[in-house]
Amino acid sequence: MIGVFDSGIGGVTVLKEILKVLPQQRYIYYSDSIHNPYGDKTDKELYRIVKSIVEYLIDRGCVAVVIACNTASAKCVKRLREEYKTILFIAIEPAYKMVHDYNFEGKTLVLATKGTIESEKFLALYHKYDNHKTILHSCVGLAELIEKNDGKELDVYLKNTLGKYKGVENVVLGCTHYPLIKDKLKKVLGDVQFFDGSVGVAKELKRQLESHKLLKKEDFSLEFIDTSQDKKKEQRFYTLLDQE
Ligand code: DGL
Repeated sequence: MIGVFDSGIGGVTVLKEILKVLPQQRYIYYSDSIHNPYGDKTDKELYRIVKSIVEYLIDRGCVAVVIACNTASAKCVKRLREEYKTILFIAIEPAYKMVHDYNFEGKTLVLATKGTIESEKFLALYHKYDNHKTILHSCVGLAELIEKNDGKELDVYLKNTLGKYKGVENVVLGCTHYPLIKDKLKKVLGDVQFFDGSVGVAKELKRQLESHKLLKKEDFSLEFIDTSQDKKKEQRFYTLLDQE
């Protein structure tokens, strides 16, 4: 069994890619919307939350855990790997290296939570691949608004906070919630090229399961759990999962 978690339904953008490469597996998707946003939590607070999710997933029989959240990946994966040595942890990071590989010359905007942008892990990545034409922007409150799913409120937020960046070419979506609002981002930023880490995570999960000999064919199953027990979240999750 494979566990996938995020601070809500954002991680569906990662799960969708995983299902393309590993369709015949058993999954639990754990949407921790009651603790959203993760982006503003202290390291200690976030680790406590994440640890209890990981223990739940292990108790349910997960051999691999995908941290479908950039913030939790940046802040917790190192410690999780030290603490739970027999579990395979797959982490996501803002796809800044992809900009380096595909459009190094382009003016770039990295969007992520405050927690991710300020993390040591992200800063190391940024300094390694810096194209000297990059703006780092913490989208405080954006993941919460995406969870809330109020289109109008989102449009106002994006216009007010990101309108000034019109003209950038590359946009790194450094939070798994953000690919859900690509259309709205284009309305504000123009015809930009998006980069996100979900495809890379899916491939890495497959690679790691294979190399640890943990990959066996199963009958597909998917269980959705949401900590706020909001029934609307479950509907939205399955709708998003089915959408192309
Ligand atoms: N989806 C998350 C991420 O990728 C977390 C957003 C939040 O809860 O602040 O960072």
